[in-house]
Amino acid sequence: MFPVMTYHRPVLLKESIDALQLQPEGNYADLTFGGGGHSMAILEHLKGGKLYAFDQDADAAENAARITSKSFFFIKNNFRYVDKFLKIHGVPQVDGILADLGVSSHQIDTPERGFSTRFQGDLDMRMDTKSAKSAKQVINNYTEEDLHRIFGMYGEVRNAKSLAAAIKEARTSTKIQTVDDLKLLLNSFAPRGREYKYYAQVFQALRIEVNNELEALKEMLANCVKVLKPGGRLVIISYHSLEDRLVKNFINKGKFYGEVEKDLYGNELKPLKSMTRKPVMATEEEVHENNRARSAKMRIAEKF
Ligand SMILES: C[S@@+](CC[C@H](N)C(=O)[O-])C[C@H]1O[C@@H](n2cnc3c(N)ncnc32)[C@H](O)[C@@H]1O
Repeated sequence: MFPVMTYHRPVLLKESIDALQLQPEGNYADLTFGGGGHSMAILEHLKGGKLYAFDQDADAAENAARITSKSFFFIKNNFRYVDKFLKIHGVPQVDGILADLGVSSHQIDTPERGFSTRFQGDLDMRMDTKSAKSAKQVINNYTEEDLHRIFGMYGEVRNAKSLAAAIKEARTSTKIQTVDDLKLLLNSFAPRGREYKYYAQVFQALRIEVNNELEALKEMLANCVKVLKPGGRLVIISYHSLEDRLVKNFINKGKFYGEVEKDLYGNELKPLKSMTRKPVMATEEEVHENNRARSAKMRIAEKF
């Protein structure tokens, strides 16, 4: 068995497995395999049922290749295409879907992937290392206006406009290639004593842009509705407010922005029923053992 815990410690494991209400004969999808912690727990409940796991990361695919269970199928692709790939596998609908969004500890802790502000590494940040756009390309090629937009929208960076202008100026003399190159530049914009928080906001913005995370999430949520059986559960764990807002709106209103639509009789037109009034959060004990769990918010919905 592979070392699940050193690759990534699964967050809200018991809570998410309970939320899926697994049936031994059911078919399920884990859209974010990572180190396979959630997938392994799902497989333990299956007898006759099947699990289809997705991840766009080659290292996650390597982990998945070690699972020998005949009930397990791995799909190395973006979860935004969940409906298409399940169809290719001859599965029109599933009984439950789990997505544990964001990056794994393994991705963050691998210096050369460039996700972390703590290590020296290339400014990469691609979850799928075959995709065309890296953080280096965003920083060096995006217009000042686009940089301003992504820092403001995805990182809620306060001085996004002046930061974008400084990047444009700096890159005319030397290319910004590494995590350290970028941190050096950010340093003069960061509030004193809160440098790492500031770096984290900028890195979050770049990561979201590089991996097109919010668009992928929206497409995935809309496609999940197509492949979930009536009564099937959708369980989503998110780690920042931009993701959680999209998940919350989609579950509660059937759309990402604006109010819920109603038919002529005043019935709400939405595909999912929320099973929790508030998101499920990790216990103090879990946060104590795994700091990554502190920002996790899990939402549970059932297909009408
Ligand atoms: C938080 S980790 C999941 C950890 C996993 N639940 C476990 O127990 O190990 C998120 C994983 O989802 C993958 N991922 C994120 N966005 C994706 C997307 N759009 N399509 C496919 N995989 C994605 C990442 O590559 C990463 O491995």
